[in-house]
Amino acid sequence: MRRYRLAEPVYVTRPTMPSLARYSEKLEGVWRRRWLTNEGELHRELEGRLRERLGLEYVSLFCNGTIALMVALQALRTHGGEVITTPFTFPATAHVLFWNGIRPVFCDIDAETFNLDPRQIEPLISAETQAILPVHVYGTPCDVDAIQAIADRHGLRVLYDAAHAFGVEYHGRSLLSYGDASVLSFHATKLFTTVEGGALVSKTPEQFRRVNFLKNFGIADEDTVIGPGINGKLNELQAAFGLLQLETVDVEIANRQRLTDLYREQLTDVPGIIIRGDRPGVSHNYGYLPILVEPEKFGMCRDELCDSLREFNIFARKYFHPLCSHFPCYSALPSADPKRLPTAERVAGQVLCLPIYGELDRETVLAICETIRQLGRLGRTDSGGGR
Ligand SMILES: Cc1ncc(COP(=O)(O)O)c(C=O)c1O
Repeated sequence: MRRYRLAEPVYVTRPTMPSLARYSEKLEGVWRRRWLTNEGELHRELEGRLRERLGLEYVSLFCNGTIALMVALQALRTHGGEVITTPFTFPATAHVLFWNGIRPVFCDIDAETFNLDPRQIEPLISAETQAILPVHVYGTPCDVDAIQAIADRHGLRVLYDAAHAFGVEYHGRSLLSYGDASVLSFHATKLFTTVEGGALVSKTPEQFRRVNFLKNFGIADEDTVIGPGINGKLNELQAAFGLLQLETVDVEIANRQRLTDLYREQLTDVPGIIIRGDRPGVSHNYGYLPILVEPEKFGMCRDELCDSLREFNIFARKYFHPLCSHFPCYSALPSADPKRLPTAERVAGQVLCLPIYGELDRETVLAICETIRQLGRLGRTDSGGGR
């Protein structure tokens, strides 16, 4: 096999950094005003710009997506009982339920979207069910219409974990406008980042007011605390970073789209590698580049491919493995039984997210694809033509 070890490590993602000079300019204003947090000028500006960019009415900034999810559950008055969710997600999705005294009920996923399979939700609904917490994994929209129809039939709330869905549109409107609320993450690994950060998208003015109290200890004014809130605030230094990120996020999406097209072109004919195309009616954000590895056809399993790629300085990630239903804190739940989650089990065992970020160059993508192609060929030869 020809050796393509990359000179520098290539990680699954890398943030686009704003100009340091422009960031310093913004910080000079912060230094002058000496207003560091608690709804500062930059915080208000960023909320306004996000409302415009995303085409939404009610956006509340948060210190991270996890606290935003915690607050969303409180704002929707969802605590105790059960919430139906996906096991194929980042740990935060299940943990925020636990922290709100809610029992997660894991539901299997759809083989095409990797999101909650609506056909499997209804049998899991019980007298205890409060809400559905689907995730738009990799920014791919859930079947929002089917999920809403189920929620309406059973009087359930729908809270979307939209951590990956910045800027995604579905049938011409923001994906974040579906359900009762949606939560974004602005973590450093995300397409749009404020270093750490997040946002909660509310549906109604009442919900928006409640969210804003809850993220500030429940404080309504100097003399009034209306409820048991928490500290979910984003500070001015993060808002400054976000304002500059917002100026370049559309270029970032366009760059990632070009790289996604290149990966698709290079990998579609590799035996045993499945790479998905765009979905109808969706304006994607190309935040992630997941592939599935079918070991029989490819010549090695996902874990072997992931380990082998590291030897070539390519650091792909097994998002989302292990499934949340495998964590010791949840594995005893009846809904965590692997037999009930066959698609999630298979996908978690085969998925690999390849490096994607705007500044990644074409040559590196070509080298990554060629390395994958050759590793597969080698695996098939070693195993006598497939295993
Ligand atoms: C699906 C999902 N939900 C929730 C979170 C939590 O967001 P944060 O890291 O901003 O707390 C993340 C990622 O970090 C995520 O990927």
